[in-house]
Amino acid sequence: MGIPKRVAIFVSGTGSLLEAMIPQKDELGIVLVLADRPCRGLEIARAAGIETELVKRTDFNPKRFDAERDVYTLRILQILIGCQIDLVAMAGFMTILHRVIFERGFKGRILNTHPALLPMFKGNHVVLDAILAGVKVTGCTVHVATEVRDEGPILAQKAVDVLPNDTVETLWERIKVVERVLYPKTILEYAATLK
Ligand code: GRF
Repeated sequence: MGIPKRVAIFVSGTGSLLEAMIPQKDELGIVLVLADRPCRGLEIARAAGIETELVKRTDFNPKRFDAERDVYTLRILQILIGCQIDLVAMAGFMTILHRVIFERGFKGRILNTHPALLPMFKGNHVVLDAILAGVKVTGCTVHVATEVRDEGPILAQKAVDVLPNDTVETLWERIKVVERVLYPKTILEYAATLK
C-alpha cells in the first residue's frame, strides 16, 4: 500500500461528506481540513482533532476577487506545502481555485465530487437543473479537478433515481448518501496510485 498519503479536505458548508469520512480519517490520511468561510465542516474537523485552516474569501474584495484569485490560491498553496499535503479532496468547497495551484505541484492531486453525472449538469444548482430537465436518473461523479471547472478525468460515478415528487433537498440528500460511500472509497483507490 506504500506510505499513507497526507490528505487535505476542502469544505465550505455543512460538511456531511467530511463527517462521513471521520471514522476512516487515519486510513484516508486526513491531516488537514481547510475552509473558505466559517462553516460546520470546520467544527466537525476540530471535534475530530484534525488541524484546520480558514482562508477567508471575505478577506478579499468580492468585486475584485477574480483578479485576486491567484493571490487567494497562493495562500492556500503555501498552507498545503507547509503541511506536506499530497492530495486534496474538495467536499463542497465553493471557491474555484486559480490554475496556479495545478501549475505548482497539484496537477492530478486535487479531487472533487460533483452531485450529477458529468458531463451532464455542470456548474452550480445542478440538482435543481436535473429536476428541471426532467431526467429520470442523475447521480454523482468523483473526478480529478483541473483548471477547467467540472472537467477532468472521471474516476467513479453512481446513478441515483429521480423520484416524481423530489425536491432539491430530497434528491440532493439521496445523492449525498451515495457520495458518502463512493468518495472515501475513490480517494483511497486514487491515493494508492500516487507516488
Ligand atoms: C456534495 O453533494 C458535493 O457533491 C457538492 O457539495 C456537496 C457537499 O455536501 N460539491 P456537504 O457540505 O458535505 O453536506
